[in-house]
Amino acid sequence: MRQLFAQDVQTGLSANPKRLSSRYFYDERGNRLFQDIMGLKEYYLTRSEFEILTRHQAALLHLFRSRPILAEESQRQVASVAVEDHQEGEDNAFELIEFGAGDGLKIKVLLRHFLAQRASFRYVPIDISADAVNGLVADLRATFPELETEGVQDEYFKALDYLKTRSQVRKVVLFLGANIGNFNEVEAIQFLTSLRRNLSPDDLLMIGFDLKKDPSLILAAYNDASGVTRDFNLNLLQRINRELGGDFNPDHFQHYPTYDPTSGEARSFLLSRKHQTVRIAGLDAAFEFEAWEPIHTEISRKYDLRTIVRLAQQSGYQVVQHFFDRQQYFVDTVWRVGRE
Ligand code: AVI
Repeated sequence: MRQLFAQDVQTGLSANPKRLSSRYFYDERGNRLFQDIMGLKEYYLTRSEFEILTRHQAALLHLFRSRPILAEESQRQVASVAVEDHQEGEDNAFELIEFGAGDGLKIKVLLRHFLAQRASFRYVPIDISADAVNGLVADLRATFPELETEGVQDEYFKALDYLKTRSQVRKVVLFLGANIGNFNEVEAIQFLTSLRRNLSPDDLLMIGFDLKKDPSLILAAYNDASGVTRDFNLNLLQRINRELGGDFNPDHFQHYPTYDPTSGEARSFLLSRKHQTVRIAGLDAAFEFEAWEPIHTEISRKYDLRTIVRLAQQSGYQVVQHFFDRQQYFVDTVWRVGRE
């Protein structure tokens, strides 16, 4: 991991324009800061998705236990779905697999309801951070002793292989929290297509997308008044100092988020406040920054429904159903594998 980090930092800071990947935000301090972000009043995303899962828990269980049948004519649009009524029994058993599970706060809403309804399922959280997965599984076992659960630590793309090795039980894959927004368009299609190749026709995928809305709300979510998101971005420079022996002075950089309503991309940058040279001993290299030169750190893309349906089709899926919060800030959309 450290080797890959070193390589990516070397490549990213040598590029023009400079860039550092947001995947490296999440070291121990970064994980803590992200927890704080999720509780910020400006960061509406987590609250909105929490509301969706709470409001629609019964409908989601009904869908996950059933086999959605799509009308022939609904192939090219958002389907109006007939759901086969389920009978109790093994046939309705499913494996709930969550990519990027994090702290599990939102999933607990569903798990509590599914267990209360005596649904036959097991929960498999997958996360890049071993600490996050182990912590979550321990917490879930304590909270829900009757829950069948097993954690997997891996990167998203590698974890796809895990799906192939699974039993015949139907899979419901969750990719929540607008994590898809941190991919660019090519990466999103690649990820969803690889995922689809590992799914069977009866499996389902539920993805959380942050929706386009008033740009001032979006910008505030990435530029909170208390400066937690600023610290989250600057932590990337401090991580380079800690792990690669860099001499970044975070005070010499400014956090600068932007939002483009056409592409839906919220982008975050760190701007060099002055002309400076930063040395990174672990890379045996020095990097020069012009005054106000940007380092691009993150894309957090916002979607509209038309683009979501197009993304589903481009990646080989059919949309089964959309679930919204009351303000329609966010959507959790359920897809199934489309016909080739
Ligand atoms: C994890 N991901 C969906 C967050 C987002 O909104 O893009 C990460 C984040 N970056 C700044 N604030 C939160």
